[in-house]
Amino acid sequence: MNTPKIRIRNLYKIFGSHPQNMLPLVLNDGISKAELLESHRHVLGLHDINTEMQAGEISVIMGLSGSGKSTLIRHLNRLIEPTAGEILLDGRDVMALPPEDLRDLRQRAMSMVFQKFALLPHQTVLENAALALKIRGVDQATREAEAMKWLARVGLSGAEKQHPYQLSGGMQQRVGIARALTADTDVLLMDEAFSALDPLIRSDMQDLLLELQRELRKTIIFITHDLDEALKIADHLVILKDGAIVQQGNPQHILMNPADPYIEEFVGDINRARVLRAGTIARAAEPSMEIAGSVDWSDTLEAVIALAAGRTDITVQVARQGKPEGIIEMRDLLAALVPYK
Ligand SMILES: Nc1ncnc2c1ncn2[C@@H]1O[C@H](COP(=O)(O)OP(=O)(O)OP(=O)(O)O)[C@@H](O)[C@H]1O
Ligand SMILES: [Mg+2]
Repeated sequence: MNTPKIRIRNLYKIFGSHPQNMLPLVLNDGISKAELLESHRHVLGLHDINTEMQAGEISVIMGLSGSGKSTLIRHLNRLIEPTAGEILLDGRDVMALPPEDLRDLRQRAMSMVFQKFALLPHQTVLENAALALKIRGVDQATREAEAMKWLARVGLSGAEKQHPYQLSGGMQQRVGIARALTADTDVLLMDEAFSALDPLIRSDMQDLLLELQRELRKTIIFITHDLDEALKIADHLVILKDGAIVQQGNPQHILMNPADPYIEEFVGDINRARVLRAGTIARAAEPSMEIAGSVDWSDTLEAVIALAAGRTDITVQVARQGKPEGIIEMRDLLAALVPYK
């Protein structure tokens, strides 16, 4: 197994005037978040976080408001210092970096895309997109050429001379993405980057992100409180509750195997036909099975239902790269759609 791009080990964050004094209560006495607040006026922001984010993957951190998502992502570039624990980037301890290396990390290793876009209002789209390179001291011609390239890539050719207020929210966030891509960092941190957008625009932006990602293979840490968004884009899903990880792993696996009632509730309302993939529920074929048609491994169960066209007694083949890999019978499909009693 390769070294993960980012590894977080035993990370704790306590907010308040004397976090170190509170640490033993959390570590040794297992005090709850509620009690720590009630009796000691400290907030348990993160509780023993252990996770890995692989290079080239989209890791999604999901949880309700206050569950610790922003606190976690801000540790990655040390906008927040941990109370205890380790953050490793490419195997290097971020906490041990001397100041100049930390500056390098913030400027060259990671870029951020923000919920409220955070564009500079008095600068043009082009200047905004080129900002990270300007801060790094790249000359104007070079940084503008790079910014032009990425603005075109996110569909903003022709808007370079405009100012942010002249653009719609969706276009402003395209500038945010172009700015992050122009910075040319391996890691992108996206905290609720699409949450301020209208549903249709939001869906377009998710598609844009996935399309860019197929080509660029960045390490993306994406925060959302929206499960449908998480399921659409996550390679790895981390679900937080009260500052602790309740479950993490492959999103399809989590859908099929929720680890506790909290996760069951979380995944209970989604349209399973639209998010579960044929490959997730496929099983080995038996000889002599009669096949009514074929779907791809990555097709959703909706595609299987469409293919069945109302027939309930058929078997569908599931292929990967054109090769048969398994089958789905309609009763397996129904069981996957309505999993819990
Ligand atoms: N600077 C701070 N001082 C005190 N408590 C804080 C501070 N920052 C965050 N917290 C607390 O830590 C917990 C986690 O907050 P965080 O902002 O990480 O949640 P979140 O999951 O990002 O929520 P949201 O979806 O609302 O953005 C909350 O209980 C919050 O009140
Ligand atoms: Mg937040």
